[in-house]
Amino acid sequence: MSERSTEGDDSLAIDVRGLSKCYGGRKVVDDVDMQVGAGRIVGFLGPNGSGKTTSLRMLCGLLTPDAGEGRVLGLDFRREAAQVKRQVGYMTQRFGLYEDLSIRENLDFVARLFSMPGRRQAVDGALERLGLKSRETQLAGALSGGWKQRLALAACLLHRPRLLLLDEPTAGVDPKARREFWDQIHQLAGEGITVLVSTHYMDEAERCDELVYIAYGHVLARGSAAAIVREAGARDLEDAFVKLVGQATDNFTS
Ligand SMILES: Nc1ncnc2c1ncn2[C@@H]1O[C@H](COP(=O)(O)OP(=O)(O)OP(=O)(O)O)[C@@H](O)[C@H]1O
Ligand SMILES: [Mg+2]
Repeated sequence: MSERSTEGDDSLAIDVRGLSKCYGGRKVVDDVDMQVGAGRIVGFLGPNGSGKTTSLRMLCGLLTPDAGEGRVLGLDFRREAAQVKRQVGYMTQRFGLYEDLSIRENLDFVARLFSMPGRRQAVDGALERLGLKSRETQLAGALSGGWKQRLALAACLLHRPRLLLLDEPTAGVDPKARREFWDQIHQLAGEGITVLVSTHYMDEAERCDELVYIAYGHVLARGSAAAIVREAGARDLEDAFVKLVGQATDNFTS
């Protein structure tokens, strides 16, 4: 564990400690530390209700933490939440765009929300990049899961964020579309964009540089997939996580 500091470390896109959130007297995120190196892809894993979405929403400035200090993209993530929001692409767990607008109209709407200069060019670029050009007039509501997810990624890339927080971006998406999505994620990381992505898929976890595993709001393990498997004395990642959650259930529930 690194030294606690208030100065921050330029090589870290996320450097937050003690992140906590309480709902109805229950701590759903409890003293979570999150460090993500710039340009890295970090997988955020954990059972349903373990606190992933709540953590992601606090990191991008959409939800006020009860406790926690640190920096996101070099900014104080609590006091400078508005600036953080402008540089982060957040993909929500559920499709959040307008089903009755076309692909292009949705992207144009998002570009307006960000008051983006050169809006048309930015939308054209996003359509091109995600292979959406030929479908630009299709209504979002008529798209299959894989195309919806591409549109959602295009929307959160429009304002050229330096950090992507992706909340189960591939849930319910077929294997081919998932693979294409991950190729895209690796390409973005190659361009220097940092990615923190939650997922329940072990094959996706294997494609991350590092993993953070959370249950009952507590971080149970972090590091490379290989290190987590080794330290848990497990056969594979799935086995490691079943063991970790078993221990956490003993420790955090009574
Ligand atoms: N606005 C809210 N009010 C009350 N409780 C909430 C609220 N948001 C989340 N919770 C609770 O906090 C806990 C953590 O929820 P969260 O959505 O962060 O989990 P998650 O890890 O993202 O789960 P999943 O894998 O199902 O998406 C859950 O018990 C959830 O019911
Ligand atoms: Mg969630």
